[in-house]
Amino acid sequence: MDVDAEAIMTGRGCIMGQSGSGKSFLAGVLLEELCRLKLPFCVIDTEGEYSALKDIAPVIVVAEEGGDIGFGVDFDELFLRSIDNDIPVVIDVSDTEDKKGAVYRSLQALYSVESRMRRPYLVVIEEADKFAPQVVRKDHNIIEELSVRGRKGGVGLLVATQRPANISKNVLSQCSYGFVGKLTIENDLNAIRILFGRKQALENITRLGTGEFVSFGLGIENSFRIKERVTKHAGATPEIGGEVKRGRIESVLKDLRGIGNTGSNRSGRKSAVKSQSVRALHMGFGLDDAKGYAQKIAKKRFLLFGNATERIDSVELKYMPIGQCSFRIPTRHKNEYLEYYALFDLKYRLVRIDNGIRTLDVETAGKGRTVNYMPWLRKEPLDTEEVKLVKEDMIEGALSERKAFSLIRRRFPEAMPSGFLQALMPIYIITLKNGNRIREFVLDGLFGRQVNFK
Ligand SMILES: Nc1ncnc2c1ncn2[C@@H]1O[C@H](COP(=O)(O)OP(=O)(O)O)[C@@H](O)[C@H]1O
Ligand SMILES: [Mg+2]
Repeated sequence: MDVDAEAIMTGRGCIMGQSGSGKSFLAGVLLEELCRLKLPFCVIDTEGEYSALKDIAPVIVVAEEGGDIGFGVDFDELFLRSIDNDIPVVIDVSDTEDKKGAVYRSLQALYSVESRMRRPYLVVIEEADKFAPQVVRKDHNIIEELSVRGRKGGVGLLVATQRPANISKNVLSQCSYGFVGKLTIENDLNAIRILFGRKQALENITRLGTGEFVSFGLGIENSFRIKERVTKHAGATPEIGGEVKRGRIESVLKDLRGIGNTGSNRSGRKSAVKSQSVRALHMGFGLDDAKGYAQKIAKKRFLLFGNATERIDSVELKYMPIGQCSFRIPTRHKNEYLEYYALFDLKYRLVRIDNGIRTLDVETAGKGRTVNYMPWLRKEPLDTEEVKLVKEDMIEGALSERKAFSLIRRRFPEAMPSGFLQALMPIYIITLKNGNRIREFVLDGLFGRQVNFK
């Protein structure tokens, strides 16, 4: 059987089958494959059976006992690092009392980090019917949220359940692919009927053996048997990866243990706390989009110059400080003012954001009489959100409120300052290489247009 990793990483899928049908075994095979490909994921482990993945890859296990770290971990930080370093995470709730609480808390953090990072990341949930039950209510639970909206953020979802009749229809209906093992309960068979086009496939389901599955949405017609696992079950010899490199993971763990797991380490302040909460502009153009863009411009070059082969050297996401001055200008009516916002980059050039980003030299921005016609003046403040970033992601620098206002005053002597905000703007730095020749492009992370910040 051949399954496209990309389809799994970004799709919505399910593994269904009664207890003992081989669901966890199948999930294990898929996750081993992802480890081999160095694709990051998080698995909600209800039986404590996935820490065996450690045999073949650096994996962080969060568990009540015996894991790398406990549930006191700062989940934001954990997922930030997991995504950034491509390190898989096992959330082992087998010994946890409040399983739902632990699962929701971790997935909520993952969702918020991923909404920002937007990198392909797979979430696997065992016993998903327990965490996303079919009940009638208005609000979405986090798993439904992930299944409906997570795709935009790059989150793939794979849920396992022995009772397809009990899992939220909102989750089940999103599944574009799935594996079905032995099922015998009438309600469960009914629940999955809508997912199958062919009727015969369903009839076999009651007769499948352990480790046998039929699938949908993957272009595989017949039932098949899952191959042997490398880790744990079957006791086979590890063949993937050889020696597992733990160096990177140890330093990540050291950080995480310092951040909030116990609280006792905080006083020193020198080690751990690497990431900080900052305000950033809402990212509208993801890293994968930027990579796609890079591919396009590299290709264009290739076509123009025939034999030249340009390749992508790097696509880096950075955050650039930007200052927002708000100020009021009196109108003709007494006691009435209009409020405006102006944006500055680190060189105090005006920045215009509408359907792209442009910088204008302050001195040449024009001395209009009527405020209304200044294209760089905004009537609305920037749309920002709180994000957690590590220092390396940020371009250093700070804007002085005073200096920015004095520039505004030059054009509008009657302006009165009413606020200042320094926020971070996501940008992508794309480097293309062709032998010794290097080309660099900057895209904004809002609209994905080229900008010329120098
Ligand atoms: N493809 C397979 N090859 C060999 N043994 C398997 C296979 N699938 C499942 N098993 C074995 O069957 C038992 C039940 O499988 P498991 O994956 O735990 O089922 P489930 O998660 O559906 O309850 C386990 O002991 C497992 O090792
Ligand atoms: Mg299982």
